[in-house]
Amino acid sequence: MSKKMWDGRFQKETDSAANDYNTSLPFDCRMYAQDIKGSMAHAQMLQKQGIIPGSDAEGILTGLAQILKDIDSGILTFDSDAEDIHMFIEEELTKRIGDAGKKLHTGRSRNDQVALDIRLYLKDEAKIIRSLLMSLYQTLIAKANDNITTIMPGYTHLQRAQPITLAHHLCAYIQMIKRDVTRLDDAVARMDESPLGSGALAGTTYPLDRSFVAHELGFAGITSNSLDGVSDRDFAIELSGVFAILMMHLSRFSEEIILWSSQEFAFVELDDAYATGSSIMPQKKNPDIAELTRGKTGRVYGDLLTLLVVMKGLPLAYNKDMQEDKEAIFDAIDTVKGALVPFNGMISTMHVRSDNMEKAASGGFTNATDLADYLVGKGLPFRSAHEVSGKLVKFCLDAGISLLDVKLDEFRSFSPLISEDVYDAISLQTCVNNRTIPGSPAPDTVRSALAAAAAFK
Ligand code: ARG
Repeated sequence: MSKKMWDGRFQKETDSAANDYNTSLPFDCRMYAQDIKGSMAHAQMLQKQGIIPGSDAEGILTGLAQILKDIDSGILTFDSDAEDIHMFIEEELTKRIGDAGKKLHTGRSRNDQVALDIRLYLKDEAKIIRSLLMSLYQTLIAKANDNITTIMPGYTHLQRAQPITLAHHLCAYIQMIKRDVTRLDDAVARMDESPLGSGALAGTTYPLDRSFVAHELGFAGITSNSLDGVSDRDFAIELSGVFAILMMHLSRFSEEIILWSSQEFAFVELDDAYATGSSIMPQKKNPDIAELTRGKTGRVYGDLLTLLVVMKGLPLAYNKDMQEDKEAIFDAIDTVKGALVPFNGMISTMHVRSDNMEKAASGGFTNATDLADYLVGKGLPFRSAHEVSGKLVKFCLDAGISLLDVKLDEFRSFSPLISEDVYDAISLQTCVNNRTIPGSPAPDTVRSALAAAAAFK
């Protein structure tokens, strides 16, 4: 086993099982670029402040740049017994440039270093996830624009309730995704502080320029308390919360896609590229992408819970328990990224069976509320109108017909207020077209909603 960088007070080597248990290199190696970037800014600052000589800083910067290049190209691999990515890079640097490498860690602890690296890493990943979310958002807007007059039943309790349009239904998801994006932006804004300079927990006696480092690394500012700077993981928890909510939205949508693509609904047909077959049943076309998204939502909830539980009992400041933050937040990131791409493809390519949607809206008495509203228009109080409409629904159920099939004299036997204009008043088109107040399904209202949605970037 290689010599530990902290073994001055030790008289024995670490047990190899203990070493394996302790190491985070197999998973924190994915932060190598952020670790090197952070070290470069730190070294520049040490030189600027006169803490290390210019020649040493130069050696450190050249060495780190080389290491970054070699890891990027695959020449340098992580097969090492180093304790973590921070030790790995520092050991490699010292191997390459000698004693100057040993000066890099002046005025720094792995505690503030790791807190910095995770923030940098999460900021980078959040940017990628934001753009994936925005492309799903654009897909939904395009799909909605194509379906402004596609009538479908809206549901409550999964029972047909009132006629809406597919565009209106999609607009609901557009709003959810927009909130997911703004929640992501909020979380990133709150994590946008550099903890470097917090040291192990109590700051440092070196005259570090914390703001210089923060600025070099693209942070909006610096953390305000050294204990908090090294022991805060709220930002990872908050981001996981954002991801959990976002996955919940994708999961609800997935559930609908699964229902809609069943033969019982037949509202959509998934493109062959986004469906799978069965190894035994030749007729099957399964919505695996939607089902996996619904399933993987559980993983992301689990990641959020892992982080909350890891942190709940920890005294200030750093504790090794906190090394457990990484696999959870990394898994949440991988799962969200993994879901967004195929989910977007599935939605953009799915074929809408508007005829079946409209047929479903014509059954199920989705215009019963509008019949009651029609009677209100003729002077009947709403409660009485509700009762007349309900009795007519019962009449239709017994006769196996829909409200639009009721003859005028039959209508009038329930209420003499009903006249010929009822048929137009309760047609599905009228039901949708008359719902014009903001947030409602009338085509022009939805057009304005979509124009407003398109302005969000
Ligand atoms: N690998 C550690 C982690 O991820 C880095 C910080 C180690 N600090 C320490 N004092 N052992 O949390």
